Amino acid sequence: MNRFYITTPIYYINAEPHLGHAYTTMVADAIARAHRLMGDEVFFLTGTDEHGQKVERAAHKAGLATSVFADQTAQKFRDILPVLNIANDDFIRTTEARHKAASQVLWRRVRDRGYIYKGKYEGWYCTVDEVFVPETQLVEGHCPICGSVVERIAEESYFFKLAAFQQPLLDHYRRHPDFVTPAGRRNEVMSFLEAGLEDLSVSRTSFSWGIPVPDDPAHVMYVWFDALTNYMTAAGYGSDRPADAERFANVWPADVHLIGKEIVRQHAIYWPAFLMAADLPLPRRVVSHGWWLMDGAKMSKSKGNVVRPRDYIALFGLDALRYFVFREMVFGQDADFTDEAILTRYNADLANDFGNLVSRTTTLIQRFCENKVPAPDSELRARQPEHDLCADTDDLVGRVKGSVASFQLSVALRDIWELIGGVNRYIVLREPWKLAKSASDRRELNTSLYVAADVLTTIAELLRPFIPDAAERTLGMLGVTPQKTSWTTLASGRLRPGTTLGTISPLFPRIEHSVEELRTMAADTNESAPGVPTAPTTPAPAPSAAAGAAEGKISIDDFMKVELRVARVLAAERVPKSTRLLKLQVDTGVDQRTIVAGIAEAYEPETLVGRSIAVVFNLKPAKLMGIESNGMVLCASPEGGKPMIVTFDDPPAPGTRVR
Ligand code: MSP
Repeated sequence: MNRFYITTPIYYINAEPHLGHAYTTMVADAIARAHRLMGDEVFFLTGTDEHGQKVERAAHKAGLATSVFADQTAQKFRDILPVLNIANDDFIRTTEARHKAASQVLWRRVRDRGYIYKGKYEGWYCTVDEVFVPETQLVEGHCPICGSVVERIAEESYFFKLAAFQQPLLDHYRRHPDFVTPAGRRNEVMSFLEAGLEDLSVSRTSFSWGIPVPDDPAHVMYVWFDALTNYMTAAGYGSDRPADAERFANVWPADVHLIGKEIVRQHAIYWPAFLMAADLPLPRRVVSHGWWLMDGAKMSKSKGNVVRPRDYIALFGLDALRYFVFREMVFGQDADFTDEAILTRYNADLANDFGNLVSRTTTLIQRFCENKVPAPDSELRARQPEHDLCADTDDLVGRVKGSVASFQLSVALRDIWELIGGVNRYIVLREPWKLAKSASDRRELNTSLYVAADVLTTIAELLRPFIPDAAERTLGMLGVTPQKTSWTTLASGRLRPGTTLGTISPLFPRIEHSVEELRTMAADTNESAPGVPTAPTTPAPAPSAAAGAAEGKISIDDFMKVELRVARVLAAERVPKSTRLLKLQVDTGVDQRTIVAGIAEAYEPETLVGRSIAVVFNLKPAKLMGIESNGMVLCASPEGGKPMIVTFDDPPAPGTRVR
């Protein structure tokens, strides 16, 4: 089984998550889902970048202690993940103990190998981008990347011997031409490298919100040294637990660091240089995408021109937003986000082309074939255009996999939509509703509906990474149970004749209003605009195998909203004045937190310390006897008996997801 480790950038927590952040995370999610479907063992990481002057100042401005501010704002990035239906495997915060340890281990290793020395830095600094700006690159006293005013700093600093890596990096780029893609970005990196590198200041003394430099705590690490290390922390680096070391050996190096184009230099020069200095394996690829623009300018917090994903999800539904961003942005280039564009894509591509195809195919089978997939006639299936339609389907599977490998999501969707158009034309050509009128046309009718449903099954399978909910609902309508690794066996002709269809429900009803009207209606009713079926702010329920029998059941997506994780009990005590409650301090692998559990009648607190338990990780905090509880302990609760904690044969590391 292949391993596939993909990361997003970790996001600064001075801003609320906007569409720019959501885009990267959704792309990584689609790629991760595709790899899971191809049978790979995927590790998909996202998280928050919480140190540095910018965050310290934002906390100060908000009148909060920096750690409190960090907890609050990091939570917003965590909370948006289920809203976007992101199936990440870990969420890292750079303020976690595991990350402090990893950064310090890496620092020591680089230092001990002779690549860090003490000096004095004097020059310009952009706090928005957290970068040092050489005098020659200033644009009238402003940062060349974001345009904000730069500050003069002069302080003692540790330096990393970046200049020593000019040649090794150039060699690496020559040996690995795909290390950075797209090619335009690689060319920029090459010119930068060829121009020569200066040593890099990697510590600061003028503020303290950072990871202390080992053996010299007057310094905190430069935020990028600490931030880039997150990719290894989450893989187990720097931990002294043997299980983590083993995991690191298995998981590292990352296959893909997915990033926006403005942070290519840090990922394509600094990061590989740090790793070379530490004699650690380099990531396999750094893949960068372009920017979402509003009226021609980069969408960003500092400009205030941001789209909030939730606003559009409320109007169009999540899958429509996902589809739009994947389809509209040619990967690597910039794209404009406009109301007209999303509405047009919704009505043309989702409602007309795809939604109609699903509803007409399933309704025809329901009406004319007793709700069961009919058996095709092999001779009729071998003629034209049936034969070509099947060949196109098989060809599409290969092409979509290729587009996923090169991150060309808009190409993948364009190709899928070409086939959707092909099936729509095929139905118009065969006119099954006419064939149904005469018994002598039965073979024709069955064949045409089988072919349409079969090709549609493959289309729905191919859409699963992109619009998981709509795709799986489509499979449910076709009576197909979504399988975890279905892309390993994907081909035309796999739909079994006789399969009973599930309940048919509209996927993307046409919207007959302007976006402005939708907004007004949503504001008036304080809910979804009419025309949008479920307008899920969280993913709409997915289908089960036979959706008809699904009443009272929840979909896998519903289940996945409950984030269950392994945690280790660090401390336990009775809650005063309560016979039932214990207060547990647990290590969730991601943080340490308090959970109040109703298990005091079954367990002596001291017997729990050191035990691994399963907890609901993303439960809203609640106060119990005045103590804030952050999560819930999973227990079996026999009728009339005492609760029994769920345990593991061989406890996995804290933070491991339980599914
Ligand atoms: N904290 C650093 C990254 C450290 S990674 C070790 C950082 N954070 S950020 O919050 O500014 O997020 C930057 C990332 O958000 C971009 O690289 C990109 O992935 C995404 N985007 C932010 N604005 C964007 C657009 N307008 N358009 C597309 N993506 C954008 O940089």
